[in-house]
Amino acid sequence: MDIEPLDASFGAIVRDITLAGLNEDAFGSLYNLWLEYGLLVFPGQHLDNDSQIAFTKRFGELEFDIFELSNVRDDGSIREGSDDDMVKIIKGNMGWHHDSTYMPVQAKGAVFRADVVPSEGGETGWADMSAAFEAMNDKMRDRVEGLSAHHSLIYSQLKAGFSQKDEDSEYMGYGLDQEGAPLRPLVKVHPETGRKTLTIGRHAHAIPGLSESESNDLLDELVEFACQPPRVYHHKWTAGDAVLWDNRCLMHRACPWNMKERRIMLHSRIAGDPKTEGALAA
Ligand SMILES: [Fe+2]
Repeated sequence: MDIEPLDASFGAIVRDITLAGLNEDAFGSLYNLWLEYGLLVFPGQHLDNDSQIAFTKRFGELEFDIFELSNVRDDGSIREGSDDDMVKIIKGNMGWHHDSTYMPVQAKGAVFRADVVPSEGGETGWADMSAAFEAMNDKMRDRVEGLSAHHSLIYSQLKAGFSQKDEDSEYMGYGLDQEGAPLRPLVKVHPETGRKTLTIGRHAHAIPGLSESESNDLLDELVEFACQPPRVYHHKWTAGDAVLWDNRCLMHRACPWNMKERRIMLHSRIAGDPKTEGALAA
C-alpha cells in the first residue's frame, strides 16, 4: 500500500490497497496504521454494503452495521424540507462531534463511504483531539482535567434548533430515545495509544460544578481552540471513496451543500469497549 500523510497533525490517504479481502497480515498492518493516523482515506474502493460491513467487522463488534445518511428517499425523491427529520439529523451533524457519546458506550470508530456526491460542498471534516490536548497550555490542561460533561443527542438537536417529531417520523430515532445524558470526562486516555484526548463537541453540556453559562463558554472555547489547523482536515468526496476513523480521538462534522442535489453516504459504526468507552454515570 501507498501511504500519503495529510497536511495535518493526523490522517493519511492510502492507495494501492483493496479493502475487500485483505489477508490477516495486511489487516494487522492496516490496523496499526489506523491507530497511528486516526483517519485513513481510501480513494476509489467502491465498496457495496456487504463488503463494507465485512470490512468494518474486522475492527470489532459493530454498534450498527450500516446506515444510509442521505437526502434521498427510497423512491428517489429528495428530502430538502427543514421539517424533515432526516434533514434535521444531517444538519445537526454539521456541528463538531464524536459519535455515540450520548449512548452508554461511545463508538470506537466508523467506516464511511460515498455513493452519490453533490457537485459542490458536502465534505466531511475531522479534528484531532489528541493533538488539541497536547497543544493546550498548562493552565488550560489543569482546568479541564478532572472535569466531565453530560452528552445528549436530544440536547444537541434542540440546541441546534431541531426538535424531532416523535410520531410518524421517517427517521429511525437512533439515540433520540436515550434516557439520561451519560457523563464523560473531558480528557480521555485512548485505550490503545495511551494518548490523552479531548472528548467535547456538540453533544457535551452541563459540566458538573460549573454554572450553565460557564459550562457552555468553556465547551465553546475548547471546540474553537481544538478545531483549528493543523488539527483539521476536510475531505472532498468522490463517489467510491471510503474512510475509516477513530472516534476515540477525532471529532467530525458534515459540511453544507445545496440540498436540491443528492448526497448518499453509508455509515458503519464500530462499538466501543464498555471498559474504556463506557460513561462514568448515566
Ligand atoms: Fe457523526
